[in-house]
Amino acid sequence: MGQVGLNELPRWPGPDKIEVGWDLHPSVWGRGLATEGARAALGYGFEAVGLERIISTARADNAASRRVMEKCGLAFQEEFTHKGALVAWYAIDRADWQASQAAASQ
Ligand SMILES: CC(C)(COP(=O)(O)OP(=O)(O)OC[C@H]1O[C@@H](n2cnc3c(N)ncnc32)[C@H](O)[C@@H]1OP(=O)(O)O)[C@@H](O)C(=O)NCCC(=O)NCCS
Repeated sequence: MGQVGLNELPRWPGPDKIEVGWDLHPSVWGRGLATEGARAALGYGFEAVGLERIISTARADNAASRRVMEKCGLAFQEEFTHKGALVAWYAIDRADWQASQAAASQ
């Protein structure tokens, strides 16, 4: 039904190149799977791999993906033209991830 996980973006122009991303078949959209999978991938990246920052990118007009990023606690950074398309990118630091997990467990 698709994939959700961490990818490396070697040509991304910023210093942080590990992205959480998703690509799900339309037949399974709307069930919260992208959000659930992205949260699991963030936990793996921060807790098991020890990453300091994870980003996420999408075309600026991809409202569903931007909503998934926001639901996972990623903060909007900017929009800019990348490879000929207007792109929006978001990011979350390990400290903010850990704070969100602590708050959720209370
Ligand atoms: C983006 C995508 C992953 C969504 O998957 P999903 O499992 O349906 O996502 P979720 O159910 O976890 O969450 C989707 C959220 O976006 C919202 N949403 C969906 N369509 C929307 C739209 N057109 N405008 C605004 N919000 C929208 C949903 O209401 C939901 O938010 P909510 O829980 O607050 O109601 C899916 O559309 C997809 O795989 N698209 C193709 C690949 C892609 O675009 N990948 C990202 C490129 S980097």
